[in-house]
Amino acid sequence: MCGIVGYIGKNEAWPILLEGLKRLEYRGYDSAGLAVLSNGAIDVRKAVGKLKALEACIKDNPPAGSVGVGHTRWATHGRPSDENAHPHTDCSGRITVVHNGIIENYLELRTELEGRGHKFTSETDTEVAAHLIEEYYAGDLASAVREAAKKLDGSFALVVMAQDEPRCLVGARRHSPLVVGLGDGETFLASDVSAFLRYTRRVIYVDDDIVVSVGSSDVRLFDLDGAEVEKAAETVDWDAAMAERGGYDHFMLKEIHEQPRALRDTMRGRLNPDLARIELPGINLSEEDIRRIERIVMIACGTAYHASIAGKYAIEELCRIPVEVDVASELRYRDPIIDERTLAIVISQSGETIDTIVGLREAKRKGAKAVAVTNVVGSLAARESDGVLYTYAGPEIAVASTKAYTTQLMVLYLIALYLAQVRGTIDESRAAALRAALWELPGQAEVILNDYSEVVKAAERYYCFNGFLYMARGINLASALEGALKMKEIAYIHAEGYAAGEMKHGPIAMIDPTFVTIAIAVQSKTYDKILNNIKEVKARSGEVIAVANTHDETITNYADRVIRVPQTEELLSPVLVAIPLQLMAYYVACNRSPNVDQPRNLAKTVTVE
Ligand code: F6R
Repeated sequence: MCGIVGYIGKNEAWPILLEGLKRLEYRGYDSAGLAVLSNGAIDVRKAVGKLKALEACIKDNPPAGSVGVGHTRWATHGRPSDENAHPHTDCSGRITVVHNGIIENYLELRTELEGRGHKFTSETDTEVAAHLIEEYYAGDLASAVREAAKKLDGSFALVVMAQDEPRCLVGARRHSPLVVGLGDGETFLASDVSAFLRYTRRVIYVDDDIVVSVGSSDVRLFDLDGAEVEKAAETVDWDAAMAERGGYDHFMLKEIHEQPRALRDTMRGRLNPDLARIELPGINLSEEDIRRIERIVMIACGTAYHASIAGKYAIEELCRIPVEVDVASELRYRDPIIDERTLAIVISQSGETIDTIVGLREAKRKGAKAVAVTNVVGSLAARESDGVLYTYAGPEIAVASTKAYTTQLMVLYLIALYLAQVRGTIDESRAAALRAALWELPGQAEVILNDYSEVVKAAERYYCFNGFLYMARGINLASALEGALKMKEIAYIHAEGYAAGEMKHGPIAMIDPTFVTIAIAVQSKTYDKILNNIKEVKARSGEVIAVANTHDETITNYADRVIRVPQTEELLSPVLVAIPLQLMAYYVACNRSPNVDQPRNLAKTVTVE
């Protein structure tokens, strides 16, 4: 996955492109490049490594000009190197391309193009696009890009610039995001709005198989047959400050702190202050549709998958509908049992994760209705589902997902309560208690964030330990898995999440004095059983940190350290438990790695299978 940006307007392009790339760096950061139309010729600059390397190599001698394209890369075809960094150019150097996605038939195209005399300078799939466009170019860049797009299999968002057409940039997309930003006498093209939010919030989301030609004050969209298509502009409600670090050392820490606000925004309009009922118009299912549901399949990856595990517990308990949760990359290959009485719930922060999208398509092909839970307006998941429930988390820039996770949980609780309300599967007093508890969650999250000194102290004590084991029972199994994932991905420490009852079937063998166990011991049906599990770990000289409720005195007799969270309904507790676990991973990582926001080998959105 990569980030792309294009600019055409009245200002110097390079600082705007660099700024845009900084906002997109979460999408990939192994090399970067930009190209500016400078004094009638295309000036390309590239550097392997993070964006800072590119910045350093252009700042003493920047390319002058007000039209340009930029790219930040997460390697798929070809190792990170200057040659493989984008932009890529055709043989003449008159056409240059930045690309996000994977061109699946690139080898075949490359062989054909080389056979016709084209000279390649990189190992990338992208370069075939530059040479194909060169072949079709006869003075009209939009039509050359259109013809080339017809030849490409796979996924792409392209932004193309031609030396001979200095007044336009051309974009095209299939399955990878591309959005146009409409400024005042300037126009942007980018993988996502955060690249240009400081200049404009008026956007056009480009659809699949559409080619867009932009000048500084005009935008035209075409289908692949060349017919002009209309698409209205929209105004996004994110502002530039939401995509800045705002005084925090890392985006991750800022995003952890944004959770009370994000939870409130996600609840707004769905649960009103009178707490009377849940309204979910975005779900786009009639009451009849809801009553007909026989099973639910949840499709997600990574952190979103962990949210779906909590969602399963909540929906099964409240709605008595069987729920299957599936790691999206497995779903399509196992011929899942899905039919027109199945509801697919697709959970994806980005709405662009390819495994999740493919799972969504598979569920729809088998007749299911689909509802997307996503953070990105106009994303693929949103567009391809029958209904969409947005998590109003705001832009999530850190690679490790935090506020997206807790807002996904919030939406899943709202879904569970809404389905139960329509199907009449819980009595009103229980529903009212859950609605009231839901309403309290943002304030309780604030309480955790007002003082987490115990977490910081624990991180200082344990950051050089060899491994972390997270154990929990019931719905907090999701918390254990998510806590372990956070630790692995940003601190690079081996960590496992386990159902506590399973400890004695294997993992307990790993316990020794260099291994920390984090036990989720909030009030629950299985509280006493967790205490027993803690005893078993202590008996084997393991260190135990418990995450427990504020007034729980008992726990101090069992665990070495206690991290407190306010008490809520067991079913809702994963929202609160998530926060200290995120902070724990964050502070352990700060003690070990300089790359908390951009951990090695990862990218924010995985648009490759
Ligand atoms: C972990 C993380 C990933 C994502 C996963 C799915 O912190 O961020 O595991 O959760 O790649 O991404 P989305 O939600 O965009 O589909």
